[in-house]
Amino acid sequence: MAAYIFDRLRELGEKNAYPLHMPGHKRNLRFMPYDFRIYDITETEQTDNLHKPEGIIAYAQKAMAELLGADSSYFIVNGGSGGMIASILACCNPGDNVLVAGNCHKSVYSGLVMSGVNPIYISPQITEEGLCGGISIRDIFRAFDDYDIKAMIITSPTYEGFTCDVKTIADVVHKHNSILIVDESHGAHFIFSDRFPKCALSQGADVVVNSWHKTLPCLNQAAVLSTKGGRVDIDRLKETVSMINTTSPSYPIMASLDYARDLLSRDKNLFTQYLETLADARHELTHCKTLKLVNDSIKGQHDIADVDISRFTIMVRTDITGVRLGKILLDKYNMQVELAGFHHIVALTTVADDPRGIKKFVKTITELDKKLERKYIEKIPMTSAPVTVPTMTPRDVYFSSKEAVDMESAVGRIAAVSVIPYPPGIPVVPMGQIITQEHIDTVNKLRAAGISIMGIENNNIITVRK
Ligand SMILES: Cc1ncc(COP(=O)(O)O)c(C=O)c1O
Repeated sequence: MAAYIFDRLRELGEKNAYPLHMPGHKRNLRFMPYDFRIYDITETEQTDNLHKPEGIIAYAQKAMAELLGADSSYFIVNGGSGGMIASILACCNPGDNVLVAGNCHKSVYSGLVMSGVNPIYISPQITEEGLCGGISIRDIFRAFDDYDIKAMIITSPTYEGFTCDVKTIADVVHKHNSILIVDESHGAHFIFSDRFPKCALSQGADVVVNSWHKTLPCLNQAAVLSTKGGRVDIDRLKETVSMINTTSPSYPIMASLDYARDLLSRDKNLFTQYLETLADARHELTHCKTLKLVNDSIKGQHDIADVDISRFTIMVRTDITGVRLGKILLDKYNMQVELAGFHHIVALTTVADDPRGIKKFVKTITELDKKLERKYIEKIPMTSAPVTVPTMTPRDVYFSSKEAVDMESAVGRIAAVSVIPYPPGIPVVPMGQIITQEHIDTVNKLRAAGISIMGIENNNIITVRK
């Protein structure tokens, strides 16, 4: 007999690889000085109720809203994913047209199925090296000219830390009496320094989701949904938040949100030291040529408004993949990065990082850079037309008859599930789209590079509409 998860985690705990990944507490006791057994409790008259908050949870949510400059904020105990689903269900009715950025997370697609809306996909700009950038304002105008759109959903920042011009997008969206939902899951820390990009809520977004567990010292799954501006029906929003949250919410998760908010808003010094470490680290990395840090110079290109300096997005400009680099970092240097992709890695840091951990990462990348020779790398094709309407809505596909076929015979068929490399969790083939040879080639390249793909079973089987 074995306790599989427990045993593996204990083993990993003993190896203690330096965590350049989520959750943002980085196992740092200074930021989480509490014993979870004491905090793991249920709803009693003394502990309030997330589904009818009137006591400590209501106060904690109010304090959170004040910090974020929101009209109201709600705790989500099943991550940014739950927050995105709740946002869509709160703002849209079945049959509404919703403009969805093509680089949205898989949770958005779940929200599309549950809400029964008609998505219109808008492709992000793609950088020379194949990363998703921002969304072109011209494309947004065009979509609003062509369709009557109830809401728009964007991801800002992206996994790589690029933000969109949320202010201009919000102006366009509001001019058309529409609602802007921003998935700011990766940008919960923006509120704590003006050295980070501006928060979407301060730029005019109507609903914003922040995964505090990703970039702040909180337990996994801790997230916050906030709203501002009066365009969203608050009663309906509360109801949907309640629908997606369990009736046995984790108090350790809620307490970690509350504690992090209180600690970080009181002790500004914590961010000052962290920002100095980041500035030094980014400066050091500018010398690398083959393992190239994506830095501020990308701002203003590909509709990227700003770059989050807390994460190190490093392009691997040689003939090894990002996956291979991630493995080298783990096997030889005992460091685990957040994302190891085809041509890049993303190392995530937070205020809870040990500065020595960040310095060790920078030193390692600098050393490896000297050993690796720069080579041309081929870009993976990622997107097609700027604005596309899928053949079937995600909801109709979800409820239709399906069959499993080999990938080779899937070209021309309608994808019945999304095909998603994870991380980052952005579909290469969104459900409801006609599968093309280009999609299959991309999936094959990603698989060959060792990237894990959801939606492909037994290595070659994809589910299509019958
Ligand atoms: C852009 C984006 N949005 C939402 C999510 C979902 O967040 P969570 O993991 O907190 O549910 C993720 C997760 O990686 C993400 O990358």
